[in-house]
Amino acid sequence: MREHPFSLGPRLRQCAAFVRPGSRVADIGTDHGYLPVWLTRRQICPHAIAADINAGPLARARETADTYRAADLVELRLSDGLAALKRDEVDDIVIAGMGGELIASILGRAPWVQDEALQLVLQPMSHPEKLRAFLYKNGFDLIREETVLDGGRLYTVMLAAFAGRALSPSLEECYLGRLGESVSPYTPAYLTRQAALLAKRKAGFSPEESERIDQVIHALAEKAAALDLKQKEASL
Ligand SMILES: C[S@@+](CC[C@H](N)C(=O)[O-])C[C@H]1O[C@@H](n2cnc3c(N)ncnc32)[C@H](O)[C@@H]1O
Repeated sequence: MREHPFSLGPRLRQCAAFVRPGSRVADIGTDHGYLPVWLTRRQICPHAIAADINAGPLARARETADTYRAADLVELRLSDGLAALKRDEVDDIVIAGMGGELIASILGRAPWVQDEALQLVLQPMSHPEKLRAFLYKNGFDLIREETVLDGGRLYTVMLAAFAGRALSPSLEECYLGRLGESVSPYTPAYLTRQAALLAKRKAGFSPEESERIDQVIHALAEKAAALDLKQKEASL
């Protein structure tokens, strides 16, 4: 048994930074349970639900909670997405380390997340643009987004909440999200990487679609250069 919680890596650390102090948090797809154990043992959250669709990860989360004396603070729950949770149990929901489409489908299957008082911390491992499209189209507001470098890989972490305004986002908005306002030093590199990924996906599209994609690639590259310049000027 250990008294002090471990340190989190940059990706989960950014997720934790978006969680509101004092909130009851649920970590969906918790696996090792590091995030809920860290948040409760650091007394950022009074209580956490650590949920996973598989029993193996929940056993790992139990081990983490036992090791760091958080068994009374972290409730383990077998759940497909948010299916085994109720609205009045949580204030902040974290869904990290899954594909953007899976995160969107988990949110889409739980209409109760359409509540302005709830905060969503979302960290897609792939297709962030599909997750942003889902959020915008379903009335969620992207409040903030920051990038991190963790284990040599770049990630984005999103903070979102329901706002009741369904939008029809452009392709550029889906690729950029709120990254134009990011303060992370890794955002220019992240945007450059997204532009390169988009360039790879371009093959097979019609000439008109291809032209639209080129415009987005150009916009991402321009935003990356502008942020880079802004950060360099700020550090002078
Ligand atoms: C790669 S791990 C991410 C662990 C942790 N959230 C992180 O970001 O480090 C993905 C976890 O999500 C779980 N998972 C996958 N689909 C899920 C679903 N529909 N509902 C709940 N958990 C799910 C898997 O069992 C696995 O433990």
